Amino acid sequence: MSVHNPDIKRVTTHTIQELKNRGEKISALTAYDFSMAGVVDAAGVEIILVGDSASNVMAGHETTLPITLDQMIYHASSVVRAVKRALVVVDLPFGSYQGNSEEALRSAIRIMKESGAHAVKMEGGQEIRESIVRVLSAGVPVMGHLGLTPQSIYKFGTYAVRAKEEAEAQKLIDDAHMLQEVGCFGLVLEKIPATLTKQVSESLTIPTIGIGAGPNADGQILVLHDLLGITKEFKPRFLRRYADVHTIMTEAIAHYVDDVKARDFPNEKEAY
Ligand code: KIV
Repeated sequence: MSVHNPDIKRVTTHTIQELKNRGEKISALTAYDFSMAGVVDAAGVEIILVGDSASNVMAGHETTLPITLDQMIYHASSVVRAVKRALVVVDLPFGSYQGNSEEALRSAIRIMKESGAHAVKMEGGQEIRESIVRVLSAGVPVMGHLGLTPQSIYKFGTYAVRAKEEAEAQKLIDDAHMLQEVGCFGLVLEKIPATLTKQVSESLTIPTIGIGAGPNADGQILVLHDLLGITKEFKPRFLRRYADVHTIMTEAIAHYVDDVKARDFPNEKEAY
């Protein structure tokens, strides 16, 4: 049962900031298509992220790297058509913003114009500062993403917890403050120690949204298919499954197959 605030008619970046200001936790989830986005929105989630994790859960790729800008726009426009309340944030995919700031701006504008989304998310800190500033200068709200940034998985070589060592933790803190200073409206912190999340979240005025980052972030995000138990093999410690939709769907479909084979479906009432 959702306890979302019915007074919030349309979630904006300002709403997200107000939630942090008054100490109310922010809920965020991914969605990639019209039907699921409608369900997520109706359940009261404040931020729907059209994540480049679509590359994994929708397209079956091993990493987020292969998904293209055109594919992200397709997913984002499907989500936007369903959403009445949540803030829709879209990942700029790998290769669409790291080259130079002009390319970043072009990519962000395409997402905003062609999908109708409300904001974009970009992975990285100081290395992509110029691109973030350029996108922000066009009036496009930007959410940052630090810690285990999946677009850099081949640099990390592992999906293990990031920023356990002092130097990486300090860089993350510096990057977080830089993202706030240039004007990002929020920041995803992925797979970092809970104590570091606490330190960063308490020292920033903008909200942090954690995934595998402990309870101290200002909000939490999960991949929808993981939360629902549609993906079975992915079992990180941080994931709480709220349903076993894989089993529910498999049993329902197997039942349908049985009914077709037994000539039980369709029956007289289901025919014209
Ligand atoms: O792509 C994605 O789903 C994400 C979240 C896991 C934060 O970036």
